[in-house]
Amino acid sequence: ITEPTKLPLTVHLCAPRGFCAGVDRAIQIVEIALDRYGPPVYVRHEIVHNRYVVEELKRKGAVFVEELDEIPAGEKPVVFSAHGVPKSVPADAARREMFFLDATCPLVSKVHREAEIHFKRGRHILLVGHAGHPEVIGTMGQLPEGAVTLVETEADAETVLPPDTDNLAWITQTTLSVDDTRAIVAVLTRRFPRIVAPHKDDICYATTNRQDAVRAVAPRVDAMIVVGAPNSSNSQRLREVASRAGCERAFLIQRAADIDWEAVGTVSAVGITAGASAPEILVEEVIDAFAARYAVTVETVRTADETVSFNLPRELRLPAAQ
Ligand code: F3S
Repeated sequence: ITEPTKLPLTVHLCAPRGFCAGVDRAIQIVEIALDRYGPPVYVRHEIVHNRYVVEELKRKGAVFVEELDEIPAGEKPVVFSAHGVPKSVPADAARREMFFLDATCPLVSKVHREAEIHFKRGRHILLVGHAGHPEVIGTMGQLPEGAVTLVETEADAETVLPPDTDNLAWITQTTLSVDDTRAIVAVLTRRFPRIVAPHKDDICYATTNRQDAVRAVAPRVDAMIVVGAPNSSNSQRLREVASRAGCERAFLIQRAADIDWEAVGTVSAVGITAGASAPEILVEEVIDAFAARYAVTVETVRTADETVSFNLPRELRLPAAQ
């Protein structure tokens, strides 16, 4: 029996894609802690927004909790997730005499410090971001209640009424759409010409680079597959960027098994990318799924090189106590 001939398909693989330096560091922190202190290592919130990563770490002995009071008293470390935490969380951990490791991405911590500086200088802060996202909760929680107002949309930017329009600053979540944020900030600067901007963009290099690659690939493909979790902000944005850049069939999926082949339809070119918290093995799985149906040629479309890496927290850089 001869197999039916497969139709040709070009897979345009976006680069950069997948793990960023902050996610890489956060996962390493949990792995080293497991190695050094033995299981269980507690992790407050999903260390990064990816089910596969979380399951793998669970298998190795990590225990995920949402709040510190779910952790029994003892010597075991607790790791705070890459998204950052409100100030009250380390304070609470210290009160409970817990040993904690902070896996907050250094680029999120940078935004926390900016917020503190603005506050010290008497500025009210407008935070551009998505309500309910742990990073937003963490950033707002760096300062007393009322010091930061969340601005989610252009409409919010048009109507927000800060207490003192002459002493204002804006900061952002690190994983937003570059285009949407530009539009929101344009409204804020029109309404509040004296508003202070960040020195350097708060949207991180990884978010920007992954969106640029998708923007380059989207117009050339019939469908775009974004590998990432539904609660991953940067992955959601990649799907939006693809559809706005001319690829209407853009899908956010967690794994190959989630591909809706009917919705993908007949394709001769597809783009594949992955959010900053999605491991490469899941991208390979998606390519394999296409290769099972098509005669696939893979072409990498690289729009930037990434060399960023972050140091581990000091506690883990020191040799383990004997
Ligand atoms: Fe950090 Fe950006 Fe990744 S803020 S965790 S480098 S998506």
